[in-house]
Amino acid sequence: MNTLPRPTFSRLALRAVTPLASLALGSVAFADQTLSIGDMHSSYNRNIWWMSVAVIVMAILIFIGVSYALFYTVNKFREDKHTAEPDQFHGNNRLETILIVVPVIIVTIITILAARTMAIVNPTPKDALHVNVTGAQFWWAFEYPGSPIQGGTGTVTNGNELVIPAGRQIAITVTAKDVIHAFWAPNLGGQRDAIPGSKKTFQIDTDQPGVYQGNCTLLCGASHANMRFKVVALPEAQYNAFISAAQAYKAPAPATPSEQAGYNIFMQGKASAGAAACASCHRIQGTPAAGAVGPDLSYFGSRNTLGAGRWEGEQAKAMLKPWIKNSAAVKPGSLMPAYEKLSDQDLTDLQAYLDTLKLPAEASYWGKVPVR
Ligand code: CUA
Repeated sequence: MNTLPRPTFSRLALRAVTPLASLALGSVAFADQTLSIGDMHSSYNRNIWWMSVAVIVMAILIFIGVSYALFYTVNKFREDKHTAEPDQFHGNNRLETILIVVPVIIVTIITILAARTMAIVNPTPKDALHVNVTGAQFWWAFEYPGSPIQGGTGTVTNGNELVIPAGRQIAITVTAKDVIHAFWAPNLGGQRDAIPGSKKTFQIDTDQPGVYQGNCTLLCGASHANMRFKVVALPEAQYNAFISAAQAYKAPAPATPSEQAGYNIFMQGKASAGAAACASCHRIQGTPAAGAVGPDLSYFGSRNTLGAGRWEGEQAKAMLKPWIKNSAAVKPGSLMPAYEKLSDQDLTDLQAYLDTLKLPAEASYWGKVPVR
C-alpha cells in the first residue's frame, strides 16, 4: 500500500499551476537572479507586454463567445424525442456573414497592434549607444565602436560582461564567429540570433541600474548552457567614468617577481612546459598582447565572472588555476588548450599578474549596483 500522505487538492492544484504560471509570466529564477520578460523597467518589455495583454484579453473574449455559442446551440437544437428526424434546413446567410466578418476584424486588429509594436521596438534611436556583440564557442565579445582606445588601435572591448548606462537605449549589433548563437538578456529586451556573416541591430534598455543575467539561447555545442553573460547597467555618470577609464586604460607593469613571472608566461609562453603564449589568443590593452581568438583580458582583475559566467565571485577566483590547467575538464567543449605541464607556481604567477589588470576603483563596475 502507498504510505505516502495523500496530497490535498490545493497542493495538487498548486503543483499543476506553478509551472504554467511561470511559463505564462515568462519568468524563471536563475541562481539569485530572475530572468523575466515581465520586467517593466525595459521599454522594449513594456511594449511587448501591453501587446500581449491586448491579445490575451481578445483571446479570452473569443473563448467566452465561442463557448457561449456552443452551449447555446447544443442546448437549443438538441434532440428531445429519439424518434423525430432533426429539422432540415440549408445555410443561414446572416450567421455566415458574421462568422466571416468578425474573425477578419479580430485578425486585422491583431495585425495592426503587432505592426505598431514592431514599429516602436525595432528601430534604434539616433542617440542610442552602439555595442557590437559577437558570440563564439563559448563566450561573448562586447565592443564599443564609439569609444576608441587612447593612443592605441581599436575600440574598448570587454569579454562576457556588458556595461551599459541605465536610462539610455542600447543598439546591439549582433553577429557570431563560428556557429549560430543567440543573445538574450530577458529583463532588458528581446532575443536575437547571432549568425556568422550576418549583422543584426536591435535595442535593449532599462531605466533601473543593476546587474542582469544574459544567456546564449540557441544550442551551439557542449557548453551552450555555460555561454552566459552579465549586463551591468550603471547610472549614466558611473558609466561615463567606466568608459573613459577603459579608453585610457593601460595595463600596469608587473610590480613583483611573481607578477613578472606571470607576465612572462602570458607574453612568451613557457617552452619547457609546452605552453604557448596566452598573448597569441588574448589581448591586454597597453601591452604587446593583441590576440583576438579568446576574450579580451584587459581588465580581467575587475571582472567578477570566469568562463563566460560559468563561475562568479569567489568561485571564479578559485577556479582560475584549474581553468588555465585544463579548461575543457571544467567547462565541456572549451576551446582553450590545456596547459597541464604548468606548475602550481606558474599558475600562481599567472593569477598574480592577471589580478593586477584592474580599472581604477572609481571606474570599476562591480558591486556598485544591486543584482537583479
Ligand atoms: Cu552559444 Cu548556445
